[in-house]
Amino acid sequence: MTRVVYVNGRYLPYAEAGVHVEDRGFQFADAIYEVCEIRDGRLVDETRHMDRLERSLGELAIAKPMSRRALGLVMREVVRRNRIRTGLLYLQVTRGAAPRDFPFPQGDVTPTLVCLARRVDDAKREARAAAGIAVATQPDIRWARCDIKTVMLLPAVLAKEAAAGAGAQEAWLVDSAGFVTEGASSNAWIVDGAGTLITRPTGNAILPGVTRRTLLDLLSREKIPLTERAFTVEEALAAREAFITSASGTVMPVVSINKVPIGSGHPGTLTLRLRSIFHQVAELSH
Ligand code: PDD
Repeated sequence: MTRVVYVNGRYLPYAEAGVHVEDRGFQFADAIYEVCEIRDGRLVDETRHMDRLERSLGELAIAKPMSRRALGLVMREVVRRNRIRTGLLYLQVTRGAAPRDFPFPQGDVTPTLVCLARRVDDAKREARAAAGIAVATQPDIRWARCDIKTVMLLPAVLAKEAAAGAGAQEAWLVDSAGFVTEGASSNAWIVDGAGTLITRPTGNAILPGVTRRTLLDLLSREKIPLTERAFTVEEALAAREAFITSASGTVMPVVSINKVPIGSGHPGTLTLRLRSIFHQVAELSH
């Protein structure tokens, strides 16, 4: 259970936490967010999450709500007050509250900052990884700046809902040329017949995942071959292994795409190995 939520300078009981009805995050999705893994009560890859948060704010010209150091203290306090050992931290920054009007509000508008943390059932997550997940493809109907982590998530909501209706736990989004961009809330990877990992390069079409970036470090440490290029759904169906990466699942095996089994139809050996050693290279906060 989430017990305490940080909202604009106050730690409030979950049921009492809220933002203004004219918050621009609420009216325009004029807001960005981060999701960070909590492991042993500590934040995973905090530096990279903070780098990305600052980049997202910069791209949208949203003011920083506070210094990085102060934000770090808030995040730790939220983890502590909620007594989370294994879970996820959610951080959202909006442009702030102002009478509804499309252009940025004039004058000094204070950004809204919300931070909450939630426990994750590790046993359930491990069971899911042991079984592997099913993926269903969906057309990518998002905008041209998917590199910014905005809360404008309706296309992802619709894709996930459609995937769930098809019995899948994640949607892989496909561009108009038939190439997979990424998962609705994860980055997409395949392993080809030669054992080379393939994932789409960063750019405007995908979110530069923190887990993706840390996995690249692991691949170079382990000398595992990697090609950063877009792959088609057909290639994915013929892959030896497939998986997704995200803060919420780290490396999560994919065992079927559109109900077609991938490789053996079980989590791949390389995928499981990467999953088991992922945290050796991830940064763990103090
Ligand atoms: N989702 N791509 C998209 C579209 C995402 O929403 C996410 C993260 C990722 C993976 O990024 P990272 O490795 O930094 O978590 C890729 C988060 C977990 C979410 O929305 O819950």
